[in-house]
Amino acid sequence: MSISVPKIALVGGGQIGGVLAQLCAMRRLGNVVIFDIVDGLPQGKALDIMEASRVDGFDGSITGTTDYKDLAGSDVVIVTSGVPRKPGMSRDDLLTINAKIIKSVGENLKVHAPNAVVIVISNPLDAMVTLMQKATGFPANRVIGQAGVLDSSRFASFIAWELGVSVKDINAPVLGGHGDTMVPLVRYANVGGLPVMELLERKYKSADKAKEVMEKIVQRTRDAGGEVVNLLKTGSAFYSPASAAVQMTEAILRDEKRVLPVCAKLNGEFGVNGYYVGVLATLGKDGSGVVQEIALNAEEQAMFDKSVNAVKTLVEDMGRLGL
Ligand code: APR
Repeated sequence: MSISVPKIALVGGGQIGGVLAQLCAMRRLGNVVIFDIVDGLPQGKALDIMEASRVDGFDGSITGTTDYKDLAGSDVVIVTSGVPRKPGMSRDDLLTINAKIIKSVGENLKVHAPNAVVIVISNPLDAMVTLMQKATGFPANRVIGQAGVLDSSRFASFIAWELGVSVKDINAPVLGGHGDTMVPLVRYANVGGLPVMELLERKYKSADKAKEVMEKIVQRTRDAGGEVVNLLKTGSAFYSPASAAVQMTEAILRDEKRVLPVCAKLNGEFGVNGYYVGVLATLGKDGSGVVQEIALNAEEQAMFDKSVNAVKTLVEDMGRLGL
């Protein structure tokens, strides 16, 4: 009998990379290899987490490396290499520096992890996923981005706090690019199947007040990453992006076919062709599957189009940089 343990590679052993390694271990998702260019950093983090294995009851291995060869046989690669933003920066400001890093990472993954599903977290997300697919040459379903799971979790959290209900019963999808133009879909947000707006109207006994409250929640969702950056001052969110990517990894490794907000390459859906953008898609062993088309009203479609245009502009900017 041969039993193969999944192998998860983490490219980037910084803030997100460290939390990713610990979460993968604690959820027993498989063996983990952390790769970074800073010698000692991935090895030190791996050793630190491994030394808690008795406490956490984890029997798998976590190793650190600066050698891409150690990524051989990876099933899933999660990429966080690059720089995070500081206060006053937008995600788009990271384009030039992170694009060069992602290109070189992609070229190495093509050689050393040719069968993996790649989940990109580095920002600006939609552009970095686009570049990763180009650099690896992998089929589009095997190169995806994490943004929507986190944006939707933020949206759901703010709704839960407002309504005083369990966040577990909330579904609140956020589509579009992972930037200031992202599209929280208020009309589809629900608590246990009940439209959120109905619950807000019940709470405030006023449709106008409910609308005003929801507008603030939507804006807070769009600005949520920046809110954390402004508090931390030295970098960007890392616990929540790691949790979100681990949920996606679990869906892939266990072939769960979960329907999650994923940055996936569109092939005509929503009238978009050939661009990576956040949509609801099935996630399983082959990466992203069916993209769920959603009937958008004119206002939602306009917001979605604006967001897609922002992604297109970034991709064109990359083209001008020769990437
Ligand atoms: N290959 C591998 N790792 C690299 C490379 C490279 N070419 N270049 C930089 N790194 C590493 C850095 O050494 C660092 O350890 O990437 C790591 C990034 O970690 P942090 O600076 O702590 O950043 P983090 O908070 O983890 O965010 C990473 O995710 O959410 C996005 O905007 C965020 O783009 C940023 C990324």
